[in-house]
Amino acid sequence: MCGIVGYIGKREAYPIIIKGLKRLEYRGYDSAGIALLNGDLKIMKKKGKVSDLEASITGESLDSTLGIGHTRWATHGEPNDVNAHPHTSSDGKLAIIHNGIIENYQSLKTELEQKGHKFKSETDSEVIIHLVEEIKKSNNCSLEEAVRLSLQEIVGAYAICILSSDEDKQLIAARKGSPLVIGVGDGEFFIASDATPIIEYTNNVVYLDDYEIAIIKNGKLTLKSIEDVAKTPFVHTLEMELESIEKGGFEHFMLKEIHEQPKSIRDCLRGRLIPKDNHLFLNGMSQYMNKFLNTDRLIFIACGTSWHAALVAEYLFEDIARISVEVEYASEFRYRNPVIRENDVVIPISQSGETADTLAAIELAKSKGATIFGVCNVVGSSIARASHAGAFIHAGPEIGVASTKAFTGQVTVLAMMALILGLKKGTLSESRYRELLFELDTIPDKIQKILENAEPIKRIASTFQSAKNFLYLGRGYNFPVALEGALKLKEISYIHAEGYPAAEMKHGPIALIDEDMPVVFISTKDATYDKIISNIQEVKARKGKVIAIVTEGDKDIQNMSEYTVQIPKTEDCFIPLLSVIPLQLLSYYIAIYRGCNVDQPRNLAKSVTVE
Ligand code: M6R
Repeated sequence: MCGIVGYIGKREAYPIIIKGLKRLEYRGYDSAGIALLNGDLKIMKKKGKVSDLEASITGESLDSTLGIGHTRWATHGEPNDVNAHPHTSSDGKLAIIHNGIIENYQSLKTELEQKGHKFKSETDSEVIIHLVEEIKKSNNCSLEEAVRLSLQEIVGAYAICILSSDEDKQLIAARKGSPLVIGVGDGEFFIASDATPIIEYTNNVVYLDDYEIAIIKNGKLTLKSIEDVAKTPFVHTLEMELESIEKGGFEHFMLKEIHEQPKSIRDCLRGRLIPKDNHLFLNGMSQYMNKFLNTDRLIFIACGTSWHAALVAEYLFEDIARISVEVEYASEFRYRNPVIRENDVVIPISQSGETADTLAAIELAKSKGATIFGVCNVVGSSIARASHAGAFIHAGPEIGVASTKAFTGQVTVLAMMALILGLKKGTLSESRYRELLFELDTIPDKIQKILENAEPIKRIASTFQSAKNFLYLGRGYNFPVALEGALKLKEISYIHAEGYPAAEMKHGPIALIDEDMPVVFISTKDATYDKIISNIQEVKARKGKVIAIVTEGDKDIQNMSEYTVQIPKTEDCFIPLLSVIPLQLLSYYIAIYRGCNVDQPRNLAKSVTVE
């Protein structure tokens, strides 16, 4: 939901900002813009991708050591040159970039228009810079003070950077609800929505907190609250590697991230799982073990793919730890007046750790006294920091908009949690626990094997690239995988797809089946195997095209299906970690055959920081 970058220091700002915007393009890519300050403000903005902006800038002087840049995912106002950021004040001396939503922008705009301000765009963001201009003029105060007072009037979410051609060289940034990281270099500072634009220059970062303002001038960073209370910047050291945010020889980030899964799961298990020592340990969980043992239910909140991982958790925790589980869409949970008790353990799952709906649901649960145990990928993210405790999935940066390695990382952490709790509660015997630890340890190699045998998946993708619809059916642990397979396909190839529990098909969707309908069955040898065979027959009887994901060596389903993809055998509770891989590849290759932009699908953004 929009990426923002800023630089102040001794180097040329433009190349740093352009490169930073490209790294942040996963957050939004419908328009982009830059403001550079060198005496006057120079604003360049353009509908389209960062590369379109770059191509449009020719023969201009870009001399400047202070600048800001923005890549947009439109909320208010269609994607066009005018609505692109940066936005400027009426006198043209102030420029702003903004990520978030200003909820009271309409009333502020009306007031400001009555005072003579002329608005150029349809965005909510522009109102902030006019408000700052108005307050600066009417209070005859510094820019810093005007920003602080303006933010007290603003309702909504924001991460902003502001430049002024009227005052000494400085960069002002602030946040509430949208992420902002400040990179601290040697006499230079970098600002960005996440650490990826910063990492090649410095690994020292300060995460701005809500209601904090950063003022950077004269080579110094000063922090204060919007109530004017001085804050001490806390410098964290980033552990991210530069290679992890580059494509590393793959054509797309999505393909790279699919192929990274053996490694990302090993990273997730490292130090936590040592089967020969009967060792499985999650630090965050052990600190809150009493909470887990004394609650009678777990509530999972998440969105999108992370919600599918939560559905897998429902099967895992009920099956292994015999604890009741509720799985909630974060966006619905908040508005339903849910019953939340003090001894509830609420588990938000989020790759980015910035999803606004999930954050809002956490705040609600927290206000009712629940314990929040976050399962996130991004260290230092808002959800990680809003949680009482948690476990990172350590998947490394996920840049493709379609989530892949985050899903398997989430399921890996959730499986470890369920095993730990099962043993502690005595619902899992020591011997079974030990067997499962050994099996979990084999999962990365088994994923590797699936990845090395992608040819049949490519052929299926080529055959069905022009399909209008797809059905994905699974039962038990494979039901959430069916939903995830359908989501992957629709988001990157724009083919309509639905995931269903296989047995539900006969209660409605079966009416859709004819000779043009590809039906993907996730039909591995597990507890529901015999039942799903009947569902396959029901589809065949209506001439549907059956594509089956089966366990290696399974002849029965192979004989009755037009297309099969084999995956190695594993324990039922770990099947989603394997069965999702062919579905990720299938959607990837279909999207490629259809000529779609898999890393930047239309209308989407990686990190959904608006409600
Ligand atoms: O960062 P989060 O895990 O909180 O994001 C949740 C969803 O927005 C995300 O999973 C989305 O559905 C993906 N694009 C799916 O591939």
